[in-house]
Amino acid sequence: MQVQWSHSVLKVRDIEAMTQFYCDALGFEVADRGTVGADAEIVFLSGSSRDHHQLGLMTGRSDGDQGSLDHMAFRVGSLDDVKQMIEWVAADERIGDGAPVTHGNAVSVYFADPEGNGIEIFCDTPWHVPQPVVRGWDPGKSSDHVLAGVHEKFGENPGVMAMDEYRARRAEHFGEEESTS
Ligand SMILES: [Fe+2]
Repeated sequence: MQVQWSHSVLKVRDIEAMTQFYCDALGFEVADRGTVGADAEIVFLSGSSRDHHQLGLMTGRSDGDQGSLDHMAFRVGSLDDVKQMIEWVAADERIGDGAPVTHGNAVSVYFADPEGNGIEIFCDTPWHVPQPVVRGWDPGKSSDHVLAGVHEKFGENPGVMAMDEYRARRAEHFGEEESTS
């Protein structure tokens, strides 16, 4: 299984100040922003066509929190790889079961390492879907069935387009010589 670094998501105390800092420091732009769960706010930042977000910043870090990591995310090549990871996680006694989640543009499993650090393993879907959106998916179904379900859930969302088209637009926007997709 080929595993590629994709992004991390940090819990922050001042989301506007942190967003401004990373835009200033690394030239990131806000790809999307919105709310998750009851009242958490999330901002997605990227400077590359390869990843919808290279960094996510999410409210909810209290003054007493030592750590800031929500999760780090790695891309794998296929939905079968994600399913394989779910089986591996379920069989490993050092950690708890994973949570299968889809954001429309990705099919993921979230779990925690033995020290509680969040990990996301995901594969791309053929679609760009504006974020944040989240639904569950059934690892017991075939990959075709899962992807059809993802399209059914998110295909009519405003702003949905083919991933290749989204990446081409972003590559042009960021002045990349050619898309890295
Ligand atoms: Fe993620």
